[in-house]
Amino acid sequence: MALKIGNIKLKNRLFLAPMVEVTDCAYRLLCRSEGAAMAYTEMIYVDAILHENSRTQGLMKIAGKKDRPVGLQVTGNNLSEFTKFSKLKILEDYDLIDINCGCPSSRIVGNEAGSYLLRTPDKIGDMIKVLKDTGRIVTAKIRLGFKNNNVLQVSKVVEKAGADLLTIHARTADQKYTDAPDWNWISKVKREIGIPVVGNGGIVSGESASKMLDICDGAMVASAAIGNPFIFREILRYLKTGKENEITKKDRIDGFSEYVKLAEKNEVFEMSRVKYIGSNFFKSFEGASQARVNLMKCKSIKDVKEMLNSL
Ligand SMILES: Cc1cc2nc3c(=O)[nH]c(=O)nc-3n(C[C@H](O)[C@H](O)[C@H](O)COP(=O)(O)O)c2cc1C
Repeated sequence: MALKIGNIKLKNRLFLAPMVEVTDCAYRLLCRSEGAAMAYTEMIYVDAILHENSRTQGLMKIAGKKDRPVGLQVTGNNLSEFTKFSKLKILEDYDLIDINCGCPSSRIVGNEAGSYLLRTPDKIGDMIKVLKDTGRIVTAKIRLGFKNNNVLQVSKVVEKAGADLLTIHARTADQKYTDAPDWNWISKVKREIGIPVVGNGGIVSGESASKMLDICDGAMVASAAIGNPFIFREILRYLKTGKENEITKKDRIDGFSEYVKLAEKNEVFEMSRVKYIGSNFFKSFEGASQARVNLMKCKSIKDVKEMLNSL
């Protein structure tokens, strides 16, 4: 069954989640080449975009036609800023705008953005309407609420405001990232609203992705894709054959080398990010822990390339 977001037709139903410090344009390209149909920038503050600082511009970068369809994920707390933002010409560069209503970090919640927005569903609705009024395709990514789960209420507000798709990370904001997600809520929302619902939280394999796709329209993978873009290929294989292959040492080293190449080519190479992503590739093979130690010692892109050649 094909999935459409507004007029965007996706090649399959697999989504790479927005992730701070991970989903730059190079990482998105890598996951797309392994099969991810849809991907997003990391979450960016609307006011940072309005202030046009150079780091923000790097985070917003798109790597050409291959990096499509792409969503710009934003958060904020202020409707008049959203109104200014909605009129920026740069929004035309993205296929859709996704509003983050799920980030639980205390810095973001303290600014009344991210998951704090779940406390004020009408504000989420107003943010969606402001963007819809300028003709954009708009989606929202939410959690189940705080201690008081209000996911059904928020989902209905999101739909009524005109959003084109809703993503649900099936944990409450208080649960952060550790507790088991409760997918029953994804099924309940799916029965209550008419727009496409993408499920997120705890997809780690072909089998779990397949179960998610049984209950809703799309499956979004986050942590299991860090250092493992191959998960998309393996999910697609599982959906076709009921089997997944082992990821080999060669896959992991080649995958990280490709990331480094893409990051350099697209001018998004950042040492701290490369070390974080690389240390996630260097897992589950003999010599992986030494490779991580060597990567941490690197000071430049040249060092990283040399250490890769030595593997
Ligand atoms: C390193 C990291 C960064 C994240 N950054 C974002 C972000 O920028 N925007 C967002 O909506 N969610 C972000 N998340 C949450 C994920 O998108 C996802 O909702 C969550 O990790 C649950 O999915 P999972 O169980 O597949 O990891 C982040 C998660 C991780 C692990």
